[in-house]
Amino acid sequence: MSAPRPIAVLGGTGPEGFGLALRWAQAGESVIIGSRDAKRAQDAAEKIKQKVGPSANVSGNENLAACATSDLLLLTIPFEGHAALLKQIKPAIGPGSIVIDATVPLAASVGGRASRTLGVWQGSAAQQTAELVPKGISVVAAFQNIGAELLNGEGPVDCDVIVCSDDPNASQIVRNLATKIPGVRAVDGGKLENARILEQITALLIGLNIRHKGHSGIRITGLPVAAYDIA
Ligand SMILES: NC(=O)c1ccc[n+]([C@@H]2O[C@H](COP(=O)([O-])OP(=O)(O)OC[C@H]3O[C@@H](n4cnc5c(N)ncnc54)[C@H](OP(=O)(O)O)[C@@H]3O)[C@@H](O)[C@H]2O)c1
Repeated sequence: MSAPRPIAVLGGTGPEGFGLALRWAQAGESVIIGSRDAKRAQDAAEKIKQKVGPSANVSGNENLAACATSDLLLLTIPFEGHAALLKQIKPAIGPGSIVIDATVPLAASVGGRASRTLGVWQGSAAQQTAELVPKGISVVAAFQNIGAELLNGEGPVDCDVIVCSDDPNASQIVRNLATKIPGVRAVDGGKLENARILEQITALLIGLNIRHKGHSGIRITGLPVAAYDIA
């Protein structure tokens, strides 16, 4: 099963969103880069076209306009802008949309360390998203543990992507999307409440990267073959 619609990557001008958009464009998916500034989004889309080739199905637009033309939205913005962006785009999130959240509430958002997370009242950034989107919209937590350096590098990405959602169908769509990234296996991580653990793991990975000067990722081992979604 393929992602049935274009993916709007909000904050896709930053390294994480750009890396995911690049990988999906390379896989033939249709991507819209979102930004607070339409020109910045278009420039990022152009950069992806230069890397992938003219056939790449990538465009750029202001965040709200990007939302209005997609029902598969991905949030890749810093936590300090998370709630405000969700409130801004809420009117443009149509029925049946899926909102994927890769945001990590790093303490760096309030001047603290990137190797620590902030306490979020709802439990996690993704659960905050669930509270701020219109009723009936599916929220999926994914991609928090896959680093931008790996996504923007060459070749396969040596990482698994754990996907958490209260909507099994939305979770499956996002797991299929994750497997479009060469090297990635996707694993159903259960309910959205587990997003808080995914977000904490990112802080740990950042600490490992600082301590050991690398680009760490995670692999889940020991599950039956059927537990892994692969391309
Ligand atoms: N970098 C990684 O390796 C990595 C890995 C896993 C998860 N993450 C998570 O993914 C998210 C994005 O990471 P990133 O490193 O790409 O972040 P980033 O470069 O700091 O921000 C991404 C984009 O978000 C937009 N933005 C910045 N401040 C904003 C605000 N206050 N309100 C709305 N939009 C704002 C900017 O785009 P415009 O100025 O064009 O609007 C920026 O290019 C973060 O939550 C991060 O924790 C990152």
